[in-house]
Amino acid sequence: MSNINDAERQGLARPIENEKKAATPLSEGSVAGVSPAERRGLGQSPINKKIAIHKNDKIFKHFGIWNDYIIESCEKLGLDYDVVDCYKNGFIHQMRNYDYLFFPPDNHVLADKIAASNILEVAHRQGLKVFPNFDTIWHFDDKIAEEYAFQSVNALTPNCWIFFLLDECLEWLNNEATYPIIAKLRCGSGSNGVTLLRDSTQATKYAKAMFSKGLDPSPSLMYKAYSKAQSSRSLKTILSRIKKIPTFLNTRRHAKMLSREKGYCYFQEFIPNDGYDIKIVVIGDKLSFFARKVRKGDFRASGGGDVMYDRKLVTKQIIDSAFYVADKLGLQSVGFDYVVNKNTGEGLIIEMCYGFDWRLLYDAGGHFTRDGIWFDEPINAPEEIVKNLVMV
Ligand SMILES: Nc1ncnc2c1ncn2[C@@H]1O[C@H](COP(=O)(O)OP(=O)(O)O)[C@@H](O)[C@H]1O
Ligand SMILES: [Mg+2]
Repeated sequence: MSNINDAERQGLARPIENEKKAATPLSEGSVAGVSPAERRGLGQSPINKKIAIHKNDKIFKHFGIWNDYIIESCEKLGLDYDVVDCYKNGFIHQMRNYDYLFFPPDNHVLADKIAASNILEVAHRQGLKVFPNFDTIWHFDDKIAEEYAFQSVNALTPNCWIFFLLDECLEWLNNEATYPIIAKLRCGSGSNGVTLLRDSTQATKYAKAMFSKGLDPSPSLMYKAYSKAQSSRSLKTILSRIKKIPTFLNTRRHAKMLSREKGYCYFQEFIPNDGYDIKIVVIGDKLSFFARKVRKGDFRASGGGDVMYDRKLVTKQIIDSAFYVADKLGLQSVGFDYVVNKNTGEGLIIEMCYGFDWRLLYDAGGHFTRDGIWFDEPINAPEEIVKNLVMV
């Protein structure tokens, strides 16, 4: 900050009009110096530092969006905060009025994909503590980047092959690959960009498409309908899913803005398994999970509705490997997807993301420590993240 002022004095930098003024929040957590905690009679905020939470409902509003729960957590913890719009022109100048920035991006929102990690990084460079930080976000919604990150720390993952040239890719597919293999788009969630290739004919067709017109990464309506039909159980679940249809359509409308994926192929070894994957979440010294069964007649679990909370699925090997990778990569919050090889019993990480369905995680009813001991205290992920960044 002093450098900036020196530069301004020497005429090397533009004076920032708003520097000493507070940024204009969208809605104020703190009004005229009164914190939410004080307003509710809970007393002084435990810290005097200023927290900014990004939110722009016009760009994206979704029942699962993390911003709302970060706001809720700050309220609950009695922390002072402003809701801000990082996309507002001029906000970069106003950032320096804050000490913390929370900006959890969504993988279906083009604006977030273009700008979130850059905005977070310039906030960090101006001295703010941010969530997600660079270590946590640089591989966000990019399975190839995740793969590089995993390899850099020798994480236990399926074998993988990445190609940026069609002829090299076809050469491998036709002469070396052992089928079936899994092809993945870099981006996407809910199993949408993940395909099983059974033989070299299917694989060649896939590769040629990826090196010509490419593939649409937005969630497929057909797959969503199929997916839910395969896992619907009770009338209650079916009704709750019907209620979520407008949200899905809204998400899909946003995702349609994303460009087609092309110019690469990313393949993973298919891990023979007993029909489930496990989301393993690590936040600080806590780990919890939820497992999901694959859809009927499908090999994919992610995005399906059948959740299991069998703690025996979370072996010591999985706990140790998840803490190891989260620590090595410096992740503030991470949901790893594990598939367990049914022949070896070994859990392998197939992908990761800072965000996940935190309500499903909460319903696990507790968490493991680094020693593998279970405590019946569920993880409230947004709250845990706020505590770790602001209060530790
Ligand atoms: N290498 C693999 N071996 C076996 N099954 C896999 C593998 N990779 C993915 N899957 C299955 O496909 C699903 C979707 O893959 P994932 O990489 O998690 O993509 P998404 O980002 O869509 O969740 C997983 O939930 C898992 O059931
Ligand atoms: Mg997944």
